[in-house]
Amino acid sequence: MADTVLCTVDDGIATLTLNRPDKLNAINYDMADTLLALLDRLETDDVVRAVILTGASDAAFSAGGDIHEFSQSVALGANAAVRDFVRRGQAMTARLEAFPKPVIAAVNGLAFGGGCEIAEAVHLAVASEKAIFAKPEINLGMPPTFGGTQRLSRLAGRKRALELLLTADRFSASRALDMGLVNAVVPDEDLMACARTLAARIMRHSPLAAASIITAVTRGLNMGVAEGLLTESEQFAKLVPTHDLREGLDAWIARRRPHYTGA
Ligand code: COA
Repeated sequence: MADTVLCTVDDGIATLTLNRPDKLNAINYDMADTLLALLDRLETDDVVRAVILTGASDAAFSAGGDIHEFSQSVALGANAAVRDFVRRGQAMTARLEAFPKPVIAAVNGLAFGGGCEIAEAVHLAVASEKAIFAKPEINLGMPPTFGGTQRLSRLAGRKRALELLLTADRFSASRALDMGLVNAVVPDEDLMACARTLAARIMRHSPLAAASIITAVTRGLNMGVAEGLLTESEQFAKLVPTHDLREGLDAWIARRRPHYTGA
């Protein structure tokens, strides 16, 4: 059986490719587990400074949770369905959201259900002009379960999110851009280059500073402002003894380019 997620590393950027093209990259349990295991590996690989997540198909980024598989868990009852399907999917999107290196989705085609929830959870996203998004779970008589009831309303606002969640209407890449779900929409042939350029623009900076910004923003969004400000202050305090912060300040004062070591 082919790997459900492919991983290549090139110039400090790991590219993870959801790889069930015959099934429109539907996320089965194996794919979620493989993605989580790869993220564990990439987190501690110092060569890797950013991650790009895309889909192996002309047509699809991902058509969401594997309905054939999770309907079997549903048939076993609420405990099995929550344990095997919901918790696994929520763990996957939460891990992407909190990953300490920037994760960029390159949305190459349809992003439905869990595919859209991945785009919601990652730090940055670029979309091909041909990408199509949808929150189709209501068609199946259920709400989204990989964080899709929580993150889109924070990104796009409650009413825009509820319209999409309650209608299941498909929406274009340009609407996703208007809503803040993606950062840029580009011609299909430029998608991966655009994602790599975005990664490279971040990789000029200290990886420690990038990690602390991701952590402070992510935790802050998931808590009240007072706790968020505390997190911001804690993240800054952790950087105070590092070479990279001293170097960033010294380089600015000396009007030279900083040389970050990630230490
Ligand atoms: N789970 C499992 N299999 C899926 C899937 C999903 N979410 N989405 C697509 N597939 C499979 C199909 O079963 C089909 O496999 P088969 O050829 O072995 O039968 C293959 O991928 C191609 O899908 P198909 O439905 O034939 O393509 P289409 O172009 O006619 O339709 C969609 C595309 C996306 C509209 C349709 O596949 C769909 O509605 N998928 C489910 C989307 C969804 O509800 N996601 C949220 C799940 S919680």
